[in-house]
Amino acid sequence: MILVTGANGNLGAAALAALRLAGVPAQGGSRTPAGGMRHLDFDDPATLDLRGVTTLLLISAGYAEDDIVLARHAAVLDAAARDGVGHVVYTSLTTAGDHLAFAAAHRATERLIRGSGLPWTILRNGLYAELFGGLLAWTSDGLESPFGDGALAAVARTDLAEAAATVAADPTPHTGLVHDLVGAPITATRVATALAVPHRTLDLAAYRDRLLNTAPGLLPFQPPMLSSIATAVRHGFLSATGPDLPNLLGRPLTDPLAVAVAAASASRRAASG
Ligand SMILES: NC(=O)c1ccc[n+]([C@@H]2O[C@H](COP(=O)([O-])OP(=O)(O)OC[C@H]3O[C@@H](n4cnc5c(N)ncnc54)[C@H](OP(=O)(O)O)[C@@H]3O)[C@@H](O)[C@H]2O)c1
Repeated sequence: MILVTGANGNLGAAALAALRLAGVPAQGGSRTPAGGMRHLDFDDPATLDLRGVTTLLLISAGYAEDDIVLARHAAVLDAAARDGVGHVVYTSLTTAGDHLAFAAAHRATERLIRGSGLPWTILRNGLYAELFGGLLAWTSDGLESPFGDGALAAVARTDLAEAAATVAADPTPHTGLVHDLVGAPITATRVATALAVPHRTLDLAAYRDRLLNTAPGLLPFQPPMLSSIATAVRHGFLSATGPDLPNLLGRPLTDPLAVAVAAASASRRAASG
């Protein structure tokens, strides 16, 4: 049985759906299980029963400080080794993302996986086009962001989900491989142009000040995380493309510009309604 963790998150749900669409039997695991899912919470050892799992699609459980994230991943990997899981597929962070504040938790998880004794595949995911579009802020007359003219090789989350499903469905040929799954370069200005509005660049100090002092509801780890994305995109560290994702999908990538434009449009509707 293939088990997809984080099955109520966006990536996990889409990967599970892609497996089922391909006719591959798979189960979801979630902190809030629904419809035949397993209860699986990396923070709760009592739920970490992975007996009967042949392939574990381990969706990273981010959105916390690195020590918490790593403890979660260590707990599930220990359970996988104990319970005889046949193969672990982990959704990590693109190689170019080494500059990002949250890279350490991913690289440390990769180290645990390599040392686990389990057969593994690492999928180094690029930043979502949905995320990029959502990070562009609406003003009264257009969009603003800290990204300047920097390009991001943004990727549609559904493409990453489909790639993860493809590997999980037949992991053996991917054993011991790291796939770098990035998209095509887009810029904030191109998103703004597609929406027929201007884009204004914020300097990094103003952006960080906004994150620290006026953005509603951010957790303490988020301002440094978001500032690191801003400087890495702005200075061109996340723009490189690569063949791994289209090779895995066997088709052209979903257009990340269209996905980012849709995300920016949705955030305008949310802000105005
Ligand atoms: N590449 C990118 O641009 C990007 C952007 C944002 C995040 N990420 C990373 O990619 C992951 C998946 O992204 P997403 O878009 O699906 O995020 P999402 O929709 O916010 O989902 C968060 C995921 O984290 C899981 N999770 C959180 N705490 C957990 C715990 N204690 N035990 C087990 N699972 C836990 C959730 O599982 P359940 O709710 O089902 O339990 C859910 O799958 C994120 O968790 C984050 O690490 C990547």
